[in-house]
Amino acid sequence: MLYSLKDKVAVVTGASSGLGADSARAYAEAGAKVAILARRVEKLETLAEELRAMGAEALPLSCDVTSEESVKAAIEAVIAHFGHIDILLNNAGVAVRGGVHTLSVEDWNKSMDTNVKGIFLVSKYVVPHMMAQNYGKIVNISSVNAFIADKPDVFIRHSYNASKSAVLGLTNGMAASYGRYNITVNSVCPGLFESEMTENSLFKSQPFLDGYSAQCPMERPGRRGEVAGPVLFFSSDASSYVTGQFLIVDGGTALV
Ligand SMILES: NC(=O)c1ccc[n+]([C@@H]2O[C@H](COP(=O)([O-])OP(=O)(O)OC[C@H]3O[C@@H](n4cnc5c(N)ncnc54)[C@H](OP(=O)(O)O)[C@@H]3O)[C@@H](O)[C@H]2O)c1
Repeated sequence: MLYSLKDKVAVVTGASSGLGADSARAYAEAGAKVAILARRVEKLETLAEELRAMGAEALPLSCDVTSEESVKAAIEAVIAHFGHIDILLNNAGVAVRGGVHTLSVEDWNKSMDTNVKGIFLVSKYVVPHMMAQNYGKIVNISSVNAFIADKPDVFIRHSYNASKSAVLGLTNGMAASYGRYNITVNSVCPGLFESEMTENSLFKSQPFLDGYSAQCPMERPGRRGEVAGPVLFFSSDASSYVTGQFLIVDGGTALV
């Protein structure tokens, strides 16, 4: 079965909420054993119970993707528990608001440390295991904001734009280097989805939502679970000869 993840081991970062939790559910439904990583362990425990109720094996692990020590410990715990890692979903991310004229260096670093260095660190500890087994599927979550920026002053996020473009460059580099190890590396670039990241900002502004829907050929934001399908494609053998690609999941918004 092309999209089956039966007996595969998947690691999901930023699994305590939003798109990461939805993708972990999709992995579990497709038959994977899932290690779910984030800082808020109580939320991971709740999700782990839900995944187990679906019949999946789930391993919740505390992990701050900006800390090498924390990442190293979490990946070692996954290997100790499951023995190997087939799939890595680099999903953890933060959206810091501000333009270059208002951003503090601290806020700039927060975006880059979580959204870019986080992918580097987790991949640094996962890729050697994938190289050794000559198999791996890596999916990096970027954003439509790598291509288009939000114009309203209150929603400008220059460090976020920069970090999500960097994710695409990193994806290309990793894809070029690890293809010979049968490791594919691709990006998914979501448009607007309701989550903890957006519910108190973008989703609170009716003018912003109306503007997005007017621009979007499908005339609406994304719905829960609509990122999980593309993530599953890049995580399964349905994409066995696809690498270094990005897939924009935004109802066509970036095209018009
Ligand atoms: N929602 C959208 O419209 C949208 C659009 C485009 C792209 N995205 C991207 O999709 C991904 C998921 O975002 P979301 O919308 O689902 O937002 P969310 O609900 O806020 O989820 C973000 C996740 O990242 C985790 N995280 C943040 N900092 C972390 C750190 N230092 N170490 C480990 N985990 C960390 C959070 O967990 P803890 O706080 O528990 O650590 C949380 O699970 C992000 O990369 C985001 O940029 C979202």
